Amino acid sequence: MPDWDLLLTDARIATMRADLPDYGIISESAAIAINDGRIEWLGEQSQLPAHTAIEQRSMNGRWLTPALIDCHTHLIFGGDRAAEFEQRLKGASYEEIALSGGGIVSTVSATRAATAEELFAAALPRVQALAREGVATVEIKSGYGLDLETEVRMLEVARRLQDATPVDVRTTLLAAHTVPPEFKDDADAYIDLVCDEILPLVAKRGLADAVDAFCETIGFSAAQVERVFAKATQLGLAVKLHADQLSDSGGAELAARFNALSADHLEYTSSAGVDAMAASSSVAVLLPGAFLTLSETQAPPIEALRSKKVPIAVATDCNPGSSPICSLRIAMMLASRIFKLTPEECLAGTTREAARALGLLHDRGTLEVGKRADIAMWDLSHPRELAYWLGTPQLADLLTSGQTTRP
Ligand code: NIG
Ligand code: FE
Repeated sequence: MPDWDLLLTDARIATMRADLPDYGIISESAAIAINDGRIEWLGEQSQLPAHTAIEQRSMNGRWLTPALIDCHTHLIFGGDRAAEFEQRLKGASYEEIALSGGGIVSTVSATRAATAEELFAAALPRVQALAREGVATVEIKSGYGLDLETEVRMLEVARRLQDATPVDVRTTLLAAHTVPPEFKDDADAYIDLVCDEILPLVAKRGLADAVDAFCETIGFSAAQVERVFAKATQLGLAVKLHADQLSDSGGAELAARFNALSADHLEYTSSAGVDAMAASSSVAVLLPGAFLTLSETQAPPIEALRSKKVPIAVATDCNPGSSPICSLRIAMMLASRIFKLTPEECLAGTTREAARALGLLHDRGTLEVGKRADIAMWDLSHPRELAYWLGTPQLADLLTSGQTTRP
């Protein structure tokens, strides 16, 4: 007879399993059994086998979904860029600001000047805000240090956020975010530093779960990114890419060629880029917060991604420049309004496909036997409302590895 830690009964369950239609809803009267932080049984309540459970909780008809996953953030940074936001509203473009010494580089100065303690204190409430909305896994990138010491500091702060919160933090080294001022005239020399020093040390110390780069005129060329990806691959690290955000730089193709976990942004991706992604296993991560903040007018090729069956995830891109947004629910809402994703695509994009984008689909992202018991409990009439309401607190509870977080 199974002996469970926790049994949730009288629940409505949207599993978000890809092989089931309609949000993977299995039943409107269901139960989930949890043991050692994992789902051990799930199904129609009427089918529950004989069992014992240390704790049993009635959900009173509440909806359960996989906990949300924010698979693309830059939420550790010094300072802010509100002054640039004002400049952009007066007509300056993101690229113009970057080329005149502002943009990412101004956050780099503020981040280099900040202590680990200051970075941690500023980032902690951002992680907590995400958790309050049902996020149990968040990816955090470095990329505002652009030197060995500060990139490492950012990643160490990300690991500390993991220990200080119930949220599972996945870290990404984004040393190839932009050319730091001291290498202004020699981007290749900076790529040497990334490949010869930063990447090996970060890999040796186990500080990053993946490696990202910004392939763009104000970032790095495809050839430079290739060098970073080749080194990351050699060190056994997965790669992902900021691709085709401001222009078609062949980013989607490049990501696909390296079997990247994901290619992110994709506003200017060509149909050849979509084809390349379809032939690889890379996820398309859409970032409507950056699209909105930069007043972008060209949407990513959503219809082509859909018809070619490229998996689509949605994330906040939380950062001080292009997406000062620390709410995955807002990102879902924007993805539905601006990119016309269906509410089901928005929820799949922040659960199953976000897990896939982090290489974690075997472990989380859907409600299935064997997966982590990361479960969001909602006061809703239907999960479609998650992309519909905004500003209404509907999260009743969040379990991470089967433990209540009471966010
Ligand atoms: O995802 N595109 C590059 N990186 C970030 C922006 C970072 C910044 O502006 O500080 C992005 O949009
Ligand atoms: Fe980003």
